[in-house]
Amino acid sequence: MNSDEHDRIFEDFERENGFSAMPEVVSEVLYALQSSRTSMHEIGEIIKRDPGFSARIIQYANSGAYLAAVPPSSIDQAVRVIGLGPLKGLCLGIPVFTRYKHVLGVREIWAHSRATAICCQVLSTALRFPEPDTAETAGLLHDIGKVVLAVSAGNFFLSQVQIADASNRENDWRQEKKILGFNHCFIGGWFARKFKMPPRLVEAMLWHHEFERSTYARDLACLCFIGDQIATAIGFSHPDYVFVDPDLPRALKHLGIDGDLFEKILRQCLERVAKMVVYD
Ligand SMILES: [Fe+2]
Ligand SMILES: [Fe+2]
Repeated sequence: MNSDEHDRIFEDFERENGFSAMPEVVSEVLYALQSSRTSMHEIGEIIKRDPGFSARIIQYANSGAYLAAVPPSSIDQAVRVIGLGPLKGLCLGIPVFTRYKHVLGVREIWAHSRATAICCQVLSTALRFPEPDTAETAGLLHDIGKVVLAVSAGNFFLSQVQIADASNRENDWRQEKKILGFNHCFIGGWFARKFKMPPRLVEAMLWHHEFERSTYARDLACLCFIGDQIATAIGFSHPDYVFVDPDLPRALKHLGIDGDLFEKILRQCLERVAKMVVYD
């Protein structure tokens, strides 16, 4: 693909305000989260101004994404259960996925993303990973670039969905690069930068299929990749590629996950994801 096609896809998505048409409350939350002094209560007060968005946040907190002793029923409780780190990713993810849920494949990408976020939580706990919130957010947003492809490169995306389970199927991200000249990881990195996400999160989203190419967030990108592959293995695959990546054993080795530990992680992921509300 030439650079004109690249520009067309991005312009097309922006023309219909793909990432810009966020509810007003989202920009206020993102702005407030820039300050380290902002409290959970203050964030809750901002979200409450938009009843529709508040309902979505409470719904998400109750969707099986978290282990809460008491199901959160108010926005204050929901914000506490989710935590300020993942909340930022959620504020960006929910409007995009909600807006395009009617587009072919987007509901499946959202279910896959939520399952991946849960798997990243399980992995972070099992490995005592130092950045659990960033890992969860990376899991939730890692494939947001696929939404852009589904919306603005619809014919291409449909052609990939049609061969999702073909026996000779090449990896989705490799095929995108070959045909379009860039892939959903590149778009995800662009998205994360646009909304001033932490640099390590940008890096993890950009390299979630090629963790060895990451210079300063290799472990994070690798953990996100493993969460992505576990979600796929337990039934929440991508609509355009249903297989587990043959690179998974290399990633497990990179994070020091042996067979026994992987089995334990897999079982926990299965238990947690089985409780997830699939279509919210
Ligand atoms: Fe991906
Ligand atoms: Fe994925």
